[in-house]
Amino acid sequence: MARRKYVVGNWKMNGTTTALAEARAIFAAAGEHPGVDVALCPPFTLIGAMAGAVPGAAVGGQDCHSAASGAFTGSVAADMLVDAGASLVIVGHSERREGCGESDADVRAKAEAALAAGLSVILCVGEPRTVREAGGAIDYVLAQIAGSVPDDFAADRLAIAYEPIWAIGTGLVPTVADVAAMHGAIRGALAARFGDAAQAMRLLYGGSVNGDNAAELLGAGDVDGALVGGASLTAAKFVPIVAAAAALG
Ligand code: 13P
Repeated sequence: MARRKYVVGNWKMNGTTTALAEARAIFAAAGEHPGVDVALCPPFTLIGAMAGAVPGAAVGGQDCHSAASGAFTGSVAADMLVDAGASLVIVGHSERREGCGESDADVRAKAEAALAAGLSVILCVGEPRTVREAGGAIDYVLAQIAGSVPDDFAADRLAIAYEPIWAIGTGLVPTVADVAAMHGAIRGALAARFGDAAQAMRLLYGGSVNGDNAAELLGAGDVDGALVGGASLTAAKFVPIVAAAAALG
């Protein structure tokens, strides 16, 4: 099954309204590559402004709460993201799993809430360095998948992002063979659980992706795109990644 390439920028805690010009430039350049789906996930505070500034652009959140409303100071519900103009959300990023103590069950509940609200989901998994060095990366990630991927969803509305924690923001990347082995294992686990529908689910790689390494990483087996942090903040750095994805078709 042909899966469209998908390149997503995670702006993390970066960006105020002055950054909207970069978003405009990114989406304008992405329009030159109609074969690639491009999305940006800015901080909550910028979602409405970005969606308004670039009509039709895919703008997303970086997290949502699993509840629809209530006494959860500082949190944002999936419906609120939709209301602000978002069409997708990242859940289970390692900076939230590790920094905010989110469990697989928490991540699954967030994904379920997001899907119920009509959002597409990018669900992140990835191992710490010690686990990789001990040879346990695939088992670790497959356990995360088993615990955090919901049971029931339209396959084209949930993507998995494999982001080895030790590769995030470090300039380190796994070998292409290791990326292909991990993505193949993830695809296999999804196929065992969801059957043919797994062929429609996109698997993204994330961790120190840039314009120089994108072609190689996105060309690895079972890699359908990238989740990009630092290099997604400017059009100059992000657009070459989109172009690399487009060249791979
Ligand atoms: P970097 O691209 O900055 O390594 O970040 C990756 C990431 O965490 C995207 O979600």
